[in-house]
Amino acid sequence: MKGKRETLMPILRSSLPPLEHMIPYFEKIEPNRCHTNFGSLFKQFEERMANFLGILPTQISISCNGTLSLISSLLAFNIPRDRYCLMPAWTFSATPASAVLAGLKPYFLDVDRNTQTITPNRVYDFLKSGVIAEHEIGAIMPVSPFGAPIDRSSWDSFTDKTGIPVLIDAAASFDTILNTPQMSVGQTPMMVSLHATKIFGIGEGGMIVSTDEELIKRIKGISNFGFDVSRLSSYLGMNCKMSEYQAAIGHVVLDSWSLIRQQRKEVTANYIHHFNKIGLKPWLSLDWLTANCNVFIPGKAEQVRDHLLANNIEARTWWGKGCHTHPAYQNMDRVKDLSNTTYLSDGMLGVPFSIDTSKEDIEFVCSTIDEFLTQNLFFQDHPRGEKKSDNPTDFSFVKSITD
Ligand SMILES: Cc1ncc(COP(=O)(O)O)c(C=O)c1O
Repeated sequence: MKGKRETLMPILRSSLPPLEHMIPYFEKIEPNRCHTNFGSLFKQFEERMANFLGILPTQISISCNGTLSLISSLLAFNIPRDRYCLMPAWTFSATPASAVLAGLKPYFLDVDRNTQTITPNRVYDFLKSGVIAEHEIGAIMPVSPFGAPIDRSSWDSFTDKTGIPVLIDAAASFDTILNTPQMSVGQTPMMVSLHATKIFGIGEGGMIVSTDEELIKRIKGISNFGFDVSRLSSYLGMNCKMSEYQAAIGHVVLDSWSLIRQQRKEVTANYIHHFNKIGLKPWLSLDWLTANCNVFIPGKAEQVRDHLLANNIEARTWWGKGCHTHPAYQNMDRVKDLSNTTYLSDGMLGVPFSIDTSKEDIEFVCSTIDEFLTQNLFFQDHPRGEKKSDNPTDFSFVKSITD
């Protein structure tokens, strides 16, 4: 038996570049005497971010957080109130919250086990079931689960065919949008969170990217009281603007991105390697980096979480038992069969993952899990995954997480 750790290993410790890198940007703010309202640092940050993503500044709208970016995009669709917004039950509560706050009614669908989200085919099947009429549906919100790529172009085709607008909640997918062709920027808008807990963390922030420049223009207007070119509110709007201080941090994170990415990659590779060794499948990839490490342990997430905590390791079921089980959303409409959501929620466990989580800590987490599962005869029913690969970059089996 290994000993228990003396201090708690936290699930996540956010990290920003050093203060001395920020000061030169902060020093630019005061002489301008402009601290927000699309100030010069903000404008430059938005432009730099667009360049970095290989899109035009007219194809991006940056705001003060991801939830407000979701709400302003849904408002920009101009959907009549009280229409349904279809979304996976397997998501973070900001997804249904933003639909409600934009005047829509969440309708929870089950997810596919392998993609952990809803696909156009799932929505077509739901439409065929006739439970609600197509004209009652205002929007669809697929979610990229913990940063994994989803097929954005299949949603472009869905909107072209049905006329129903789609907004992808890609909160954790900064690196995925940057590096995977499935999630390159296109017609369907995608929201990325810049929250401190995300891979491109700046404290608080959010952005919408889309090649639909008219939509982006409306989102920008909505984020500033519905002002168009004048100070007349041409349409309903609110305040989701990012301040100059937050934009300054955004610049520093952009300056440091290649180092941040490299450090994240090392931690990811270490986790893949050590989980691979004990025959478990973390929801991670070296092709799309993310800032959470979840591992799939069928039926055992909560027990393993409690065992880790007893050993001073913090672990978390990030999305609980699915949004439909949260008190705020339990009375919302949903399909009867949410068995895949339940299956995933019973097995997905977040373990400590920070930019500087050490190899030793990762090994300790994995061996503590291994010890518990072995003692509880878990591997008798769930033979260890393909251990043939000790190479941390070979992670092909993540594609079949629930096979
Ligand atoms: C799936 C999902 N959607 C939306 C959000 C909200 O983003 P923010 O925290 O920037 O408001 C989060 C944040 O963690 C998230 O995980």
